[in-house]
Amino acid sequence: MRVGVLTGGGDCPGLNAVIRAVTKSLIGQGQCEVMGIEDGFQGLMEASPRVRELTWDQVSGILHRGGTILGTSNSANPLRDDATKALVSRNAKALGLDVLVVIGGDGTMSLAHGLADVGLHCVGVPKTIDNDIAHCERSFGFDTAVATVTDALHRIESTANSHHRVMIVETMGRHAGWIALEAGLAGGADIIVLPEIDYDIAAIALRCRERELRQRYTIICIGEGAKESGASLTVRERVEGSPDPVRLGGVAHVLRERLQPHLKSEVRATVLGHLQRGGDPTPFDRVLATRFGHRAAQLVLAREWGRMVTLQHGEIGSVALGDVANAQRTVPLDHELITTALDIGISLGR
Ligand code: F6P
Repeated sequence: MRVGVLTGGGDCPGLNAVIRAVTKSLIGQGQCEVMGIEDGFQGLMEASPRVRELTWDQVSGILHRGGTILGTSNSANPLRDDATKALVSRNAKALGLDVLVVIGGDGTMSLAHGLADVGLHCVGVPKTIDNDIAHCERSFGFDTAVATVTDALHRIESTANSHHRVMIVETMGRHAGWIALEAGLAGGADIIVLPEIDYDIAAIALRCRERELRQRYTIICIGEGAKESGASLTVRERVEGSPDPVRLGGVAHVLRERLQPHLKSEVRATVLGHLQRGGDPTPFDRVLATRFGHRAAQLVLAREWGRMVTLQHGEIGSVALGDVANAQRTVPLDHELITTALDIGISLGR
């Protein structure tokens, strides 16, 4: 069997560990040929497809490395129009691909699902630091991102304390607050603001004023998709033609401007941005990514195509790609971590 592998969407620590596990399993167990597609779907959308054979040696020594050896694209859309679909289908046939392992987030899974209509079968591996893919309670990359944000909060705390400031730290996560919630808890944030709970500026100001009197500094951890009640999302830019054209970012500055007039302390904002996506994966993410890659290879060999690997109740499984396409897993308001945060006195901005 000849199997293509690509990484789509934003990068994420652990992608190389998946590429390694998929390739080694397919070569070792299935005696397959594995072709790495460069720069996500973009590599299949050009007159001469950009591919390279992945051998055992090429995927050795990459387990611990961040990023993706194959490159990625978060704007390439193989279903953009009929001409692009025909080109992708022609390229896949010319390469002799029986199936494509697609490692990506919810947008990439939707594309993988749609590719069946042009005759290209896919197996999906969920990837995102946001931890927001349906049917997957933990995606690799999330643990690493939480560790990075936790470290940042820890560093911010000492300077906030010295200057008696209110420090706002913005995390990624799009419309899901998992990174802000877990890192906020791990990093000792006083206020955690999530996309799932619109904030009330009066409530945030009140908590900061209480702390002005006692601790004299406050740490606020806010997810980029958060917004004030009645306000709209803070959009950094739109990338037209991309599967998800809206790029978020900058909500920490919006909150800073709203909050400053209510307080005596100086309010400062830090946007962590792509720091959260970079760096080497934690041991947890290396293991999870390896398990995901191994299961993807098993799905390929069993010809269970059109499915995505999942993690539910600690067990690796799979679901139909159609069941995850464009679905998102946000933080449920009755989640145990929400209750825990509130019960230990953390404000959720309301
Ligand atoms: O989905 C992963 C993610 O890192 C989001 O948390 C973030 O909003 C987005 O990607 C950023 O994408 P880009 O690299 O295009 O700015």
